Amino acid sequence: MSHNGSHIAAPTVAIAYHSGFGHTAVLADAVAAGARDAGADVTVIAVDRMTDEDWDVLDGADGIVFGCATYMGNVSAGFQAFAEKTGRRCQNGSWRDKVAAGFTNSGAKSGDKLNTLTSLAIFAAQHHMHWVNLGLGAGWNSTTGSEHDLNRLGSWLGATAQTDVDVSPEQVHPADVETCRHLGRRVTLVTRQLNLGRAASIPAASSAPAR
Ligand SMILES: Cc1cc2nc3c(=O)[nH]c(=O)nc-3n(C[C@H](O)[C@H](O)[C@H](O)COP(=O)(O)O)c2cc1C
Repeated sequence: MSHNGSHIAAPTVAIAYHSGFGHTAVLADAVAAGARDAGADVTVIAVDRMTDEDWDVLDGADGIVFGCATYMGNVSAGFQAFAEKTGRRCQNGSWRDKVAAGFTNSGAKSGDKLNTLTSLAIFAAQHHMHWVNLGLGAGWNSTTGSEHDLNRLGSWLGATAQTDVDVSPEQVHPADVETCRHLGRRVTLVTRQLNLGRAASIPAASSAPAR
């Protein structure tokens, strides 16, 4: 990896998601597409089918975007099982200072999915990761707004989607797909900025405690 000035390797971003029935998987692919658009090296990982190689990808990634469906008002059990498998890494600080972000999807318009995003952000904080918010104002919140607005559900902490419970994954809302694509681009931008900052030489004295 070359770390001199603006000439720096593409950031590596992994999308670690759980989807019971394929709807949230569509959103994971959208985050991945946005990250690729922005120049990241991207790997999409279904956390209920982790291989040893997948763990290596997560350990080596500059940034990880976590995503899952909201089940019973929180992260799905499939995601939580994965989260609990990271206990040793959490203790060792293996993912410290990586970039993190999150997305979720539910059947109800609210679905209490803020609780899921909060859980994902806390999970990232437990790993001492840097949480990146969505970076969009709320859509669909005025007389001129519509359900086709970016961030139509008006979330700040991460990307949220709502999928009617009786539709197929192909029918995930295009505005939610676009919002997730935005998140992928944003995470890549922040990751690149952080990588560039780390590559810049910082005088040792500047980090010394004041006496
Ligand atoms: C066990 C279970 C629990 C669910 N709990 C919620 C919930 O708390 N709030 C909600 O709005 N939708 C809930 N749903 C609906 C899902 O979030 C929704 O169908 C979503 O699109 C499923 O995504 P997936 O296909 O990626 O699993 C639940 C679905 C299941 C299967």
